[in-house]
Amino acid sequence: MNTATQHINIYQPHILNSFPYRGGSTREEHKTICYKMSSNENMLGASPMALEAIRENLHRIHEYSFEHDRLFCQTLANHFHNALSPDQFITGNGGMELLDIIVRGFVQPGNEVIISTPTFMAYNSFAVLGGARVIDVPLQGAMYDLDVEGILGAITDQTRLIFISNPNNPTGTIIPQKRIDKLMEKLPDHVVVVYDEVYHDYVEAKDYPRALDYIQQYKNVIGLHSFSKAYGLAGMRIAYAFSMHPIALYLQKIKRPFMINALSMVAAMAALKDRDFLEKTKAMNKAGKQFFYEQFKRLQISYTPTEANFILITQPHDMSAAAFVQAMAGKEIMVRDAEVMRAPGKVRVTIGTEEANRYLIGLL
Ligand SMILES: Cc1ncc(COP(=O)(O)O)c(C=O)c1O
Repeated sequence: MNTATQHINIYQPHILNSFPYRGGSTREEHKTICYKMSSNENMLGASPMALEAIRENLHRIHEYSFEHDRLFCQTLANHFHNALSPDQFITGNGGMELLDIIVRGFVQPGNEVIISTPTFMAYNSFAVLGGARVIDVPLQGAMYDLDVEGILGAITDQTRLIFISNPNNPTGTIIPQKRIDKLMEKLPDHVVVVYDEVYHDYVEAKDYPRALDYIQQYKNVIGLHSFSKAYGLAGMRIAYAFSMHPIALYLQKIKRPFMINALSMVAAMAALKDRDFLEKTKAMNKAGKQFFYEQFKRLQISYTPTEANFILITQPHDMSAAAFVQAMAGKEIMVRDAEVMRAPGKVRVTIGTEEANRYLIGLL
């Protein structure tokens, strides 16, 4: 009998016992979905300049990445006003691929990584696949504060990575500058902070600390940005990490040749120039956020104030969050049960177009 159990020795136990990370669900899983408010995509669509760039370059896809990654990294450096050089960027097919590369770069079986739940659980999944022991130092209180003392206390000589999502998915909260400063001050040299800023475009708070600042102070920090959110390119799978030279050059060794889809690169470079679309996106989000705050207050639905393009609510009816999400799907709207991100009883709602936001409130 040719079963997995018979040939168990060929398998690595930490991979065999892991659960694949599947991400959120897609429209195909629900027959009639009108509004998808479950994956924090941009409900305005994609940047028109990115779409135009894709159309203009379609005739070139028979060649390996005709657009060179070097040009993309130069464009990213320009976007950062040359605060970083092109070789400080590592591009990838979405932030998730970069998280995987980072784990492969820094984690060996038996090492430890620290996460703070509720948070983006891809951190957990990729770390487990890398053979790491995942230590959870949960966020604290109603505003989900980072337990800096707890994290520092949990660091051992086996700790390699600390994952921080700022703004945090699924809570939408930010960790203010003072808290991150405190962590960075005491960060031992053998630990790297993965500082995930994929929702940074939406932040309005003044005391929001940036990965770039810590990288410029030569801290062991890897910043992560994605084109999946504010730029509306989730399906293109394109993102980048950035860090100080030794870390960036080290991670580049893991990249495969022609790893980045050429159309994704032209789309991303065009999207960076599309200031108009970014401003429209931010304005839509700001208006949607205010609308939701007012309506949730009126309906007495408790919510967590957000700095991102989604909002975490306590599900309002006498049913489980899973049943609520299912019931909403029956009404042609997808929202996300946050239990998988360790926020039981909560539902995460993407802030969308005025029409979608009103439809959701109508149902509630
Ligand atoms: C906090 C966070 N980081 C990273 C990602 C990965 O995004 P992508 O792989 O689409 O770039 C997501 C996606 O939802 C996220 O919420």
